[in-house]
Amino acid sequence: MASSMRSLFSDHSRYVESFRRFLQSSTEHQCMQEFLDKKLPGIIASIGDSKSEIKILSIGGGAGEIDLQILSKVQAQHPGVCIHNEVVEPSSDQIAKYKELVAKKSNLENIKFAWHKETSSEYQNRVVERKELQKWDFIHMIQMLYYVKDIPATLKFFHSILATKAKILIIVVSGTSGWDKLWKKYGSRLPRDDLCQYVTSSDLTQILDNLGIKYDCYDLPSTMDISDCFVDGNENGDLLWDFLTETCNFNTTAPPRLKAEIMKDLNEPEFSIKKDGKVLFNNNLSFIVIEA
Ligand SMILES: C[S@@+](CC[C@H](N)C(=O)[O-])C[C@H]1O[C@@H](n2cnc3c(N)ncnc32)[C@H](O)[C@@H]1O
Repeated sequence: MASSMRSLFSDHSRYVESFRRFLQSSTEHQCMQEFLDKKLPGIIASIGDSKSEIKILSIGGGAGEIDLQILSKVQAQHPGVCIHNEVVEPSSDQIAKYKELVAKKSNLENIKFAWHKETSSEYQNRVVERKELQKWDFIHMIQMLYYVKDIPATLKFFHSILATKAKILIIVVSGTSGWDKLWKKYGSRLPRDDLCQYVTSSDLTQILDNLGIKYDCYDLPSTMDISDCFVDGNENGDLLWDFLTETCNFNTTAPPRLKAEIMKDLNEPEFSIKKDGKVLFNNNLSFIVIEA
């Protein structure tokens, strides 16, 4: 029975739809927005160090929605300064969406964009082999380190290419989130592929401590409304189950005992809170800021 379960990532269109439902049901983007509005201006105040151009590297920038928000904060903090924004993103689909967004948006005149269709390790290998190493003023890795195989080597490399007063911003799920508990308790019974790994801020801060890299870590609350997961035959609930378990068609392929166990836990206070008749899964996010 368990062998019929397969990773959600093996069906790209189902993954994209379940991710869309996750964004609709969660406060993920509102939580990021709050951080960008309240904390980011202070964090980026000293980057660039009175240079005439600020260089930003976006790793796994996706379709660019969050990237453009970051760029507008940098513009506001450093008025009139030119910005050079390079994006490392393996999905051509995402790059196309990013370019569409840039084409539609106004007030980007002082920003030069470049996209590289490659993974972070392909980028690293290319610039090292061709001796094209540059220094960057701000590097961000937002909800993407799950897809990186060698996280310590990646963090060490990107830290080594920071300019003076530069910073790295990482966003991942928090070690206090329901994800941490779900992955620790059920990870070994859910289908895995080598595309994605379970990583939270607790793992990352341990890696950074081992590397001797200094950082600040901020946690912000976020929730995901999983009430539909408890309604039989609910299409939205099915897609959210898939996202939670990273399993394609979890509801129809999972062993009933496994589903019953997870369902019971999702109601427990370490995983979710109950509010206004809804079950809200703990989707807390961590924002890790690393200095040069
Ligand atoms: C969950 S999305 C986050 C997108 C964007 N940063 C955001 O927060 O809106 C993860 C992104 O990482 C990209 N990605 C996956 N593996 C990667 C890798 N090894 N290196 C760089 N980017 C990767 C994916 O294509 C996807 O666009």
